[in-house]
Amino acid sequence: MPTLLLLPGDGIGPEVTAQVRRVAARLAPDLTLIERPFGGISFDTLGTPLSDETIATALAADAVLMGAVGGPQWASAPRDKRPEAGLLGLRQAMGVYANLRPALCFDALAGGSALKAEIVAGLDIMIVRELTGGVYFGQPRFIETLADGQRRGVDTQVYTTSEIERVSRVAFELARGRRNKVTSCEKSNVMETGLLWREVVTALHARDYADVTLEHMLADNAAMQLVKNPRQFDVIVTDNLFGDILSDEAAMLTGGIGLLPSAALGEAGKPGLYEPIHGSAPDIAGQGVANPLAAILSFEMALRWSLGRDDLADRLFAAVKTALDGGARTRDLGGELSCAAMGDAVLGAL
Ligand code: IPM
Ligand code: MG
Repeated sequence: MPTLLLLPGDGIGPEVTAQVRRVAARLAPDLTLIERPFGGISFDTLGTPLSDETIATALAADAVLMGAVGGPQWASAPRDKRPEAGLLGLRQAMGVYANLRPALCFDALAGGSALKAEIVAGLDIMIVRELTGGVYFGQPRFIETLADGQRRGVDTQVYTTSEIERVSRVAFELARGRRNKVTSCEKSNVMETGLLWREVVTALHARDYADVTLEHMLADNAAMQLVKNPRQFDVIVTDNLFGDILSDEAAMLTGGIGLLPSAALGEAGKPGLYEPIHGSAPDIAGQGVANPLAAILSFEMALRWSLGRDDLADRLFAAVKTALDGGARTRDLGGELSCAAMGDAVLGAL
């Protein structure tokens, strides 16, 4: 019996994952759902954002679905006790190095994009973000006080050949099932890691993926091209930090960050980690007005990438589309539906 570990987390996390529970009960009744505290709520109750037991439960599950972490009440906690540190620790413990972040514009929502509808209509980009390396994890990292009293902060951007290669492989494989094009983004004009990134991707492409169109683009130019002509992209592969930034930018093209899921994958057979791209939205938390679609679509990705149920994933995706086509809109999409009512709309379509 497959198991899904739910980590509702903080802010709107519990509200949106509650809708995932309802959808899962309807769509995949044989799936066992378990739940663990994670993030700020875990820090409050267990003294740590990520307990050993949560790690062990995650590693033993077939998939893990997180709601959201963080909030102003934990902003002054020591860095290693912050909810965000729990998330980075979980990604690392699970070894989920490839983060798939689709930026997909639903037809019904093209008018809600920050860009003109004709520029985003039909948009379907997959950003593959390296998730367990780079400046997020590189050592050394510290803040020190210098002799003259100034303070100095240091982060380290570091990548090895194998780290670049394995995430690029995921991107090339995905492209083959899509429009067969990969755009690799780095800053090889100023960074050593960028130079290595470009070399490794080029070599891997020549060796194993010559049938896929490969393009290299500096990350700053990619940021510009994303708003200028986003449909030129199919799969984008990039490092942890650039991927964080470019995926938020791409999300805004689709008519709302409340809609976009993500999948973080590691070695074959290991559980994946699924997260909405949105944050904990403390300003609306507890009001029952958050959009549950990003969480529901994260469950859709879990069905597809970890639970081997493409059939159910297809049904769920179609149900979300039907709900949106039928005019279901939460507040972030300019409507009035509550979080639970959006859940109802998806269940109705199912
Ligand atoms: C994301 C978030 C996280 C990140 C934070 C919450 C640690 O912005 O998943 O994009 O920077 O990776
Ligand atoms: Mg982010």
